[in-house]
Amino acid sequence: MTAFPARAAAAPLRTFSGIQPSGAPHIGNDLGAIRNYVRLQDEYEAIYCIVDYHALTTVHEGEVLRQRTFEMAASLLALGLDPDRCTLFVQSHRPEHTELAWLLATVTPVSWVERTPSFKEKREARPDDINHALLTYPVLQAADIAMYKASIVPVGGDQSAHLELSREIVRAFNRRYGETFPEPREVHTETPVVMGTDGLRRMSKSIGNTIDILAAPDVIRQQVMSMVTDTQRIKRTDPGRPEVCNVCQLHRFFGEDYLEIQDGERTARTGCVDTKRLLADRIIRHYAPARERYAELTGHPDRVEGILEAGADRLRPIAAATMAEVREKMGLR
Ligand code: TYM
Repeated sequence: MTAFPARAAAAPLRTFSGIQPSGAPHIGNDLGAIRNYVRLQDEYEAIYCIVDYHALTTVHEGEVLRQRTFEMAASLLALGLDPDRCTLFVQSHRPEHTELAWLLATVTPVSWVERTPSFKEKREARPDDINHALLTYPVLQAADIAMYKASIVPVGGDQSAHLELSREIVRAFNRRYGETFPEPREVHTETPVVMGTDGLRRMSKSIGNTIDILAAPDVIRQQVMSMVTDTQRIKRTDPGRPEVCNVCQLHRFFGEDYLEIQDGERTARTGCVDTKRLLADRIIRHYAPARERYAELTGHPDRVEGILEAGADRLRPIAAATMAEVREKMGLR
């Protein structure tokens, strides 16, 4: 786990992170990022954003995006974001983000965005939908962070290249127009990269190898039971290798006895199916309270909408101050 810098005495450090409205959060989002969002609420001034502008690069049906944005808000609240301890808002409710992205684009060489791994991946995965916004995606991400002068950014390991680019963009701006933005530092949990149920690739909605933590118990069970374990363990009596088995690794987060579980696999005392069944039970139990809160929140959409509106309102003066400073420095009248 990353150690966080001490809070400054005068101005509290700000933490910011964004998450795409993909509808249902998966265990990778939680173990890689959301747990840190929750924890950091008590340590810093925390701002969390559902990045619907970013999602527009891949989601093209308005109603789907609107619904997913709502569901992600309800999910984050159910998982522990507390509107009294953090600010949760929807990116498009503070349209200053797109203005700042444009201004930051003027200090960003094209070569920096072209080399971003996520752009290269998307270009390969979706050759018929390489829209321009996919290329400038990381500039908007830099603007999200810079808008609030955030210095701590809790993210999973897959976001490192974007965070590096955010730092470069901020540095380029500061060099050209004078010290304006702090350089954002990413912080990780103990599991910056959670592997998917295929055991091969990072867990990701777009790959479809997820365990959806707030889904119905039978969906979670089916997803966990589909997990690929140690591929060299063919027979039930073969000794397993817990260090390469994703199921064994995930057990670390859902019980104190994971060393015993790993030992059971190693000595073939337990089979992969037993270990998966136990993991499914534990994940279902662990997220049961959040699932209940989620059902409660989705039954009261006005409450969720109210929290999002209040969040965007609370940020208005900060965004206005940043934009005034930036416009002044850049010579906009
Ligand atoms: P997104 O929506 O893909 O993911 C949200 C967060 O979940 C983390 N994550 C994972 N962590 C570990 N293992 C996994 N398998 C896994 N899958 C997802 C991500 O690292 C992320 O922290 N570009 C960002 C959204 C964004 C943003 C920002 C983040 C927009 N503006 C400003 C930080 C600051 C994204 O697409 O995350």
